[in-house]
Amino acid sequence: MTQVATHACQLWYTETVTPEDIAAIERLVTDANIPLTLQAMPLTGKLNTRQKRLLSTESTCPVLILEGSYQLSWLSGELLVTPEWDKLQRRVVRAGRKSELLLQAAKINDHSRVLDATAGFGHDSLILASTGAQVQMLEAAPIMALLLLSEQQRMQTHPNWQKLMARLNIRHTTLQQYVQDAKDADTHFDVVYLDPMFPEGSYQDRKNGKGAKVGKGMQALHRLAAPPNDAEEQTLFTFAKKLCQTNAKSGRVIVKRPSDAPLFAAQVPDEQWQNDALRFDGYFV
Ligand SMILES: C[S@@+](CC[C@H](N)C(=O)[O-])C[C@H]1O[C@@H](n2cnc3c(N)ncnc32)[C@H](O)[C@@H]1O
Repeated sequence: MTQVATHACQLWYTETVTPEDIAAIERLVTDANIPLTLQAMPLTGKLNTRQKRLLSTESTCPVLILEGSYQLSWLSGELLVTPEWDKLQRRVVRAGRKSELLLQAAKINDHSRVLDATAGFGHDSLILASTGAQVQMLEAAPIMALLLLSEQQRMQTHPNWQKLMARLNIRHTTLQQYVQDAKDADTHFDVVYLDPMFPEGSYQDRKNGKGAKVGKGMQALHRLAAPPNDAEEQTLFTFAKKLCQTNAKSGRVIVKRPSDAPLFAAQVPDEQWQNDALRFDGYFV
């Protein structure tokens, strides 16, 4: 196994946090081979805007905040971000082909195996898994991978989320590395989903030309991850296709784009589903 250099990361914890809570987060880091070294420190006083600004300006490394068992957030500038899966409950419960463009594009069911190769906050993974499909999630950024794992642990404690959580498998890796490491059984996906970072300035509403509201999570994510360049788009597309090539019946690659964005990797899709803000391009393999 190749040794990867680890990066320091501050873990500030509030007074409700127990040593077991901190140990549990450290275990997630170790078990998932996330290259972070956590420096745990107690947080005194309220976490108000002034304190957030102080913590992020005074630190030269990423800052995480732990507020309870698996209640982990990343402080990016003054933005405190976390996957917040519970806020998606209504959407997940109602998710279907009528309400979700992604599900129209993916056409999956409870026998499907899906690879979400760019997991981010995991919101699209939840929609995909709401169909009963098994979802393998990949996330390249160490901080994001840790947030996802900790959110999965937190949501597993809610009885009505347990089945959904059991269908998600989270790995900290890139799509490129995953393909290199994959054993045969890891490669038979019905759908490979790509939602790479959108180009800067593409969060616009097509009708009125005004900037569409960008969630604080996405604003923060732009500080961690850049949109792929042309060569990276080609690589991602080739690898995504490779992972559903062995499944001759229903393999498809789905790419999420801003509605007016150029084609990903200059590839012409077989089908498109779109609304005013977003487009899902489908490629049948
Ligand atoms: C736009 S976000 C995805 C948002 C996600 N669909 C959601 O619902 O929250 C893109 C994410 O993909 C990750 N990423 C980018 N390139 C990647 C790669 N080659 N392999 C794995 N993850 C990647 C980034 O770190 C970022 O977190």
